[in-house]
Amino acid sequence: MRRKGRHLEVCLTEDVEYRTRRTGFEALDLPYRALPETDLARIDTTCAFLGKTLRAPLLIGAMTGGAELAGLINRHLAEAAARVGVGMMLGSQRVMLERPAARASFAVRGVAPDILLVGNLGVAQLLQGYGVDEIRAARDLVDADAVALHTNPLQEALQDGGDGDFRGLIERLRVVVREADVPVLLKEVGHGISGEVARAVEGIPFAAIDVAGAGGTSWAKVEDLVRFGEVRHHDLVEWGIPTVTALRDVRRALPHMPLVASGGVRSGLDVAKGLVLGAHVAAVARPLLAPALESADAVVAVLERYVYELRVAMHGCGVADLAALRALTLEEG
Ligand SMILES: Cc1cc2nc3c(=O)[nH]c(=O)nc-3n(C[C@H](O)[C@H](O)[C@H](O)COP(=O)(O)O)c2cc1C
Repeated sequence: MRRKGRHLEVCLTEDVEYRTRRTGFEALDLPYRALPETDLARIDTTCAFLGKTLRAPLLIGAMTGGAELAGLINRHLAEAAARVGVGMMLGSQRVMLERPAARASFAVRGVAPDILLVGNLGVAQLLQGYGVDEIRAARDLVDADAVALHTNPLQEALQDGGDGDFRGLIERLRVVVREADVPVLLKEVGHGISGEVARAVEGIPFAAIDVAGAGGTSWAKVEDLVRFGEVRHHDLVEWGIPTVTALRDVRRALPHMPLVASGGVRSGLDVAKGLVLGAHVAAVARPLLAPALESADAVVAVLERYVYELRVAMHGCGVADLAALRALTLEEG
């Protein structure tokens, strides 16, 4: 609880982005077309994901819950998601399963009855007694459409008292995801999912994989700053699979798996590039945190910037809808 508060504080006040590792989006260009056969006003960004229709292929990334300000933050995020027509992933619900008093901070259906809402738990808990019941509870207690399981060995390793034992997890996932009867996503937290990991989970019926690659928020860095007040492990905090590499490798390993592009998605152009690389939707976390403390209007403004930039990017490429966008090829910049 206190640690979650410190996470928020550090994410709001310190430089927690990767410094040397980049997402890879910056090295790729969308093919600009000076004579597009498109009308900006008619660009169609609607898509379907996990059974819901989104106005744009965008999710608010998993962030918070349980901490003091979490209820306010989550309600602002959810209201903004409803107004803009995008989806939202909640932060880890472990705290609400263990402390019913924390449940209120995750309750967003009152302000966003229809949005695509994704719950969240950590995979490490699956080795400590959590299973099908907890995944169902994470869905049912917040009326979510799906539940994401985050895997975060680097973050846990740098956390004071973090979980270090990930042995047997793939076999556990194989059983639990099949039996849960809930759409389950697998996600990282910003250090990336590799092609090898994707191959290792082949056959597990995940509804989607969120690659959460490196280049945006470094959770190893957040943990160092929470623990020591400074970065002590300079190389470790820059470690991870760049988002573009993760997307390409996971797409190659699992050609039919719906993917979420996330980790350092900082503009609508990044969203567009993520979709060209094979993602269904993109997710954005930390850029929405400070606006979420302020108001739903502030979150709407950031989300609308992403949607506008995506629309302009599509118009600039001469593609009128997301199917045409996905058929493009990126150029090495
Ligand atoms: C304040 C904050 C809290 C987060 N908490 C969670 C969490 O509880 N569960 C989770 O799966 N990811 C969590 N994340 C990770 C994000 O979902 C995302 O994967 C990561 O921040 C990379 O995206 P970004 O570069 O857009 O921030 C959190 C991120 C932030 C900034």
